[in-house]
Amino acid sequence: MDKKGRGYLRSRFQKEINKTVSQYVASIPFDWRLYQHDITGSIAHAKMLAKQKIITPKDAESIVSGLQTIQEEIEKGQLEFKPELEDIHMNIEKRLFEIAGDVAGKLHTARSRNDQVALDLRLYIKEIIVETIERIRSFQQALIRVAEANKKVIMPGYTHLQQAQPILFAHHILAYFEMLQRDVERFQDCLKRVNVLPLGSGALAGVSYPIDRHFVAKELGFSQISTNSLDAVSDRDFVIEYQAAAAITMMHLSRLAEEVILWSSTEFGFAELDDAYATSSSIMPQKKNPDVAELARAKTGRVYGNLLGLLTIMKGLPMTYNRDLQEDKEGLFDTVDTLLASLNVLTGLVETMKINNTRMRDVMSNSYILATDLADYLAKKGLPFRQAHEAVSKLVQYAISKRKGFRELTLKEYQRFSPLFDKEVQQITLENSLVKRNVPGGTAPEQVTRALARAKRLIGKE
Ligand code: ARG
Repeated sequence: MDKKGRGYLRSRFQKEINKTVSQYVASIPFDWRLYQHDITGSIAHAKMLAKQKIITPKDAESIVSGLQTIQEEIEKGQLEFKPELEDIHMNIEKRLFEIAGDVAGKLHTARSRNDQVALDLRLYIKEIIVETIERIRSFQQALIRVAEANKKVIMPGYTHLQQAQPILFAHHILAYFEMLQRDVERFQDCLKRVNVLPLGSGALAGVSYPIDRHFVAKELGFSQISTNSLDAVSDRDFVIEYQAAAAITMMHLSRLAEEVILWSSTEFGFAELDDAYATSSSIMPQKKNPDVAELARAKTGRVYGNLLGLLTIMKGLPMTYNRDLQEDKEGLFDTVDTLLASLNVLTGLVETMKINNTRMRDVMSNSYILATDLADYLAKKGLPFRQAHEAVSKLVQYAISKRKGFRELTLKEYQRFSPLFDKEVQQITLENSLVKRNVPGGTAPEQVTRALARAKRLIGKE
């Protein structure tokens, strides 16, 4: 408060800010999370100001040591953030005045909160991308372990959620490895555009001091500096890109979650959740519920919502900085928290789940899952595939009417549908159905062994 009772930076006004307004515009309840990035950015800025002789080395030293003290205070929970100081930037600046005196006022030379907040967010997302990729990697490692531990397990593969063709369970699990591999690549690609220093853009037009932006970029580990100040203070593409990559990753997690839910049902019975990852029912004592997977499936919705929210904030936003941009943060933080937690918990859930090999075989024993193999068998004997398909369709219809599986039909019965059938047809099994699909990317054991080795190489590279 100054002598007229006006708050920080309100000398232009006659009145103190309305309390409700002050709360409405404040971002400190959530942007305090950027404190470390704000301080790191300010320290680099102060060093640059001294190097360029815009402030003295002594001033820079007091500023830097004051900022370090503030960082410790925040970490120890000793600094009480004030909503009337709006945001993390002002809370830190105001505290710096208390610690270092008037010299604190020199830190904001050649800088605006507009390029400052853009910098803080970029520093934050750079760090978060590294953490996100690490978590995805752990998940991928768990998938490899699950695939390896169940290497021989054969399961029904589905299309339209109808039994289609037999596949190796490991092949199925490695499909998720692939999805997550693309996710990692998306985050790595996003990093290229996050890795640009906006500081030096000032409020919007650049600054009138002889600053050295490359020095700051180097200090803070940015690979480039922004090339248009107007764009630099108003661009949030990098936040959208992180959120889009997160939304796609969550979509992948939700698919796996959905399968785990199906597999752990009595009807499927393909998997049993570890007790530590299951929840109970408050009324039905027999239940072992997959709430973790259900929540991961559902939380995908909020991550999509956060992405849509930010796209909507940015839509039609005139140049350059507008306070609307402050609304970029809560959604982002929520997405980061949700994504990291979901990756974490699903890693454990998938890794501890027990796979029921016998049950998977049982559900295939009386099904017609080898029908494609029968059609292929006829086609390989010279029948055009479409005719082979028709012959086997009729055979299936016949077998169903007789309540028989393929293995229970006699050769005579087979031959009613095509004279090309001979006794080898009775040797078509789940195992050799797999072995035959020996094309790159197929489910043949040889291919899956190769895919596993490739997956391990990809992860080992980093
Ligand atoms: N709290 C603000 C935000 O998150 C910081 C920038 C404020 N700039 C301004 N011109 N009011 O966007």
